[in-house]
Amino acid sequence: MDDLLSLKQAFIEESASVSDLSGLQGLRVKYTGKKGLLTARLKALSAVSPEQRPAYGKVLNEIKEYIEGFLKDREAQLKEGEKDRRLLAERIDITIPGRHTPFGRRHPINIILAEITDIFVSMGFGIADGPEVELDHYNFESLNIPKDHPARDMQDTYYVSDEVVLRTHTSPVQVRVMEQRKPPLRIIAPGKVYRCDADVSHTPMFHQVEGLMVDTAVTFSDLKGILELFVHSFFGKGTPVRFRPSYFPFTEPSAEVDIGCIFCGGKGCRVCKTTGWLEVLGCGMVNPRVFEMAGYDPGAYTGFAFGMGVERMTMLRYSINDIRLFYEDDLRFLGQF
Ligand code: DAH
Repeated sequence: MDDLLSLKQAFIEESASVSDLSGLQGLRVKYTGKKGLLTARLKALSAVSPEQRPAYGKVLNEIKEYIEGFLKDREAQLKEGEKDRRLLAERIDITIPGRHTPFGRRHPINIILAEITDIFVSMGFGIADGPEVELDHYNFESLNIPKDHPARDMQDTYYVSDEVVLRTHTSPVQVRVMEQRKPPLRIIAPGKVYRCDADVSHTPMFHQVEGLMVDTAVTFSDLKGILELFVHSFFGKGTPVRFRPSYFPFTEPSAEVDIGCIFCGGKGCRVCKTTGWLEVLGCGMVNPRVFEMAGYDPGAYTGFAFGMGVERMTMLRYSINDIRLFYEDDLRFLGQF
């Protein structure tokens, strides 16, 4: 009997310090496991003399119920506590502001390139392209640019080898297209070009859009009509336009297209160098020598061509005064478009 009472006493003392489920499990094993203290007493009951057995059994049973009841209640308690702690740790504060995911923007050059392309596509022009690493033949020779032309100067052209250059303009695409297709032809060729030049209005790589229209009776009126329509679509209906005589080896006659200065309204300012006009593109009637070199009969066809700088158009559209801003990857600049 004393043994049973001290067993209960020991259990009460030990259980008082149990504070988590693994501690409780240890206690359970120690008392009610296969080799547990309580289990041993229960197994030994048959060894107690028959006279003492009822009284002894009764006490032993009470202790067993006490221990099992305690273990069950405490387990429920501890489980509840652990759930509360987990819920507290996992709590989601739905009032915290969400994390901001910034959107990317289109590059201004791309926006303007798409706009220019759309205008010409709406007038029935298709899109063509050619290599940026180009043969000297296509970049110069086939465009009637003789060996001693200043445009071939080492200062302007990146030479890969004697016969290979980084194209200095998109005009070689004209010849490549004519070699592959028969008239009538109406194409534009947007793309990158390269020149060894760098300052506030020049970068070593920039973009041009070339244009070419060839048919049996294309005239200078067609050239004027289409380019005027383009300028009015791009810069606005009321924009003054003029065609100023110029020279390009691959067109004859040649012209440059000016628009009334959009900064001073034609009064004269620093941007237009007090002329009131801004040059926006070069153009002309395809030189018969270019037709010949492309394999077209210059007696059968006429055509016009034009070329413009996309960076320049973008700078005019958005009033940007330094071309280098396009290629410095500064998000404060690029995020504004
Ligand atoms: N290729 C010329 C340049 O890079 C631009 C140009 C002028 C293209 C007149 C043409 C043209 O097709 O007819 O400056």
